[in-house]
Amino acid sequence: MKPVKVMLVFGTRPEAIKMAPLYLELKQRPEFNCIACVTAQHRKMLDDVLACFDIKPDYDLDVMKDGQTLSYITSSVLNGLSDVLKEAKPDLVLVHGDTTTAFAAALAAFYEKIPVGHVEAGLRTYDRYSPYPEEMNRSLIGRISEYHFAPTAQNARNLNLENITENIFITGNTVIDAMKYTVGDGSFRSTKLRSIDFSSKRVITMTCHRRENYGEPMESIFRAVKRIAESFDDVSVVYPVHLSPYVGETARRLLGGVPNIHLIEPLDAMEMHRLMSKSFFIMTDSGGLQEEAPALGKPVLVMRRETERPEAVEAGTVELAGVSEDRIYDLARELLTDRTIYDRMARAVNPYGDGNACPRIAEAILFSFGANNKRPEDFRP
Ligand code: UD1
Ligand code: UDP
Repeated sequence: MKPVKVMLVFGTRPEAIKMAPLYLELKQRPEFNCIACVTAQHRKMLDDVLACFDIKPDYDLDVMKDGQTLSYITSSVLNGLSDVLKEAKPDLVLVHGDTTTAFAAALAAFYEKIPVGHVEAGLRTYDRYSPYPEEMNRSLIGRISEYHFAPTAQNARNLNLENITENIFITGNTVIDAMKYTVGDGSFRSTKLRSIDFSSKRVITMTCHRRENYGEPMESIFRAVKRIAESFDDVSVVYPVHLSPYVGETARRLLGGVPNIHLIEPLDAMEMHRLMSKSFFIMTDSGGLQEEAPALGKPVLVMRRETERPEAVEAGTVELAGVSEDRIYDLARELLTDRTIYDRMARAVNPYGDGNACPRIAEAILFSFGANNKRPEDFRP
């Protein structure tokens, strides 16, 4: 049989980290002709991931600009990708998750009548404005896609509830596959991380970037973090600040100048996963960190009003802290002062699979294209 021509499209840091192991898996299999098109919705943060995994994309739409709006990203990806698809003519387009790159790429493929496979399908909060615009993006991608690679059984049930019942494969999350490449022996390459004292300080790694947290929620989160840093002199907060100018300005204004808060440049995936593995706990509004930290046995305070990742909350390693200053402060304080609570949360649990999501997705694609006769049940973690 002719190799299946699969085009992976991605453009932001988290998509790149989670698509990288899939790209590498498909690339090394003779049954696939695998190509990558990056939109560069993120430029530097994407390039850092590409370098980390040594991936050289076949196409680069290079769309990022400062102050980019959702309409700008959508229309430039849609226009750019439509030409690329006409030229490359893939049999299948794979998109990841819920970014605007993923939504616009799925739509562009649909317009060219090319089937779409959705990696990390079926996450939902059921609140169209939170996360914004991601909840709407992933719902629309679910409707457009013909193949759905759901990390967990809960994600598959969410799709069923929307009457999406065909071609759903439960695979685990590819982020666990990515961590097999990144965590390694845990040693740091950057001098900045090597200079941080992990032996006499308890390090809290934090990130915060979500659009729905812009404004008062983000300010309230930062005030809580500042109070924690000022109340515990044996704590160091390490915050690799997202390159969004809004986030950077707010972080510098509210957290700058506090001696035990380190505002640093974004890290590449290897350094980030190693930093997390050496941290005492994690405070974040990120999606990906909610999957990675439990696998590393690190408690996570999620500084959002909701989460589409209830599995780790149920497992007890993730606590939904919300965005109120007092509640975030109280929960962080509890983790720093109550060993029983800390130990209860600091258990390595991994509801997101066994690190073999990528081979499963590869097999599921071959099954869907008639190149093997395994059944969908055979692909479960
Ligand atoms: C995007 C995704 C969000 C994801 C996040 C991961 C959408 C609508 N949002 O949000 O789902 O959680 O990425 O980080 O798809 N910038 C740079 N260099 C970079 C990256 C960003 O300078 O390498 C700056 C640019 O000024 C850019 C801004 O950050 O305009 C915002 O980037 P954008 O992709 O629009 O939004 P994110 O908040 O990053
Ligand atoms: N990450 C990284 N460097 C950083 C901060 C985060 O490599 O400085 C990684 C993190 O480990 C996770 C992913 O980026 O794999 C999450 O991306 P982000 O928080 O930007 O987006 P989200 O997951 O919220 O969509």
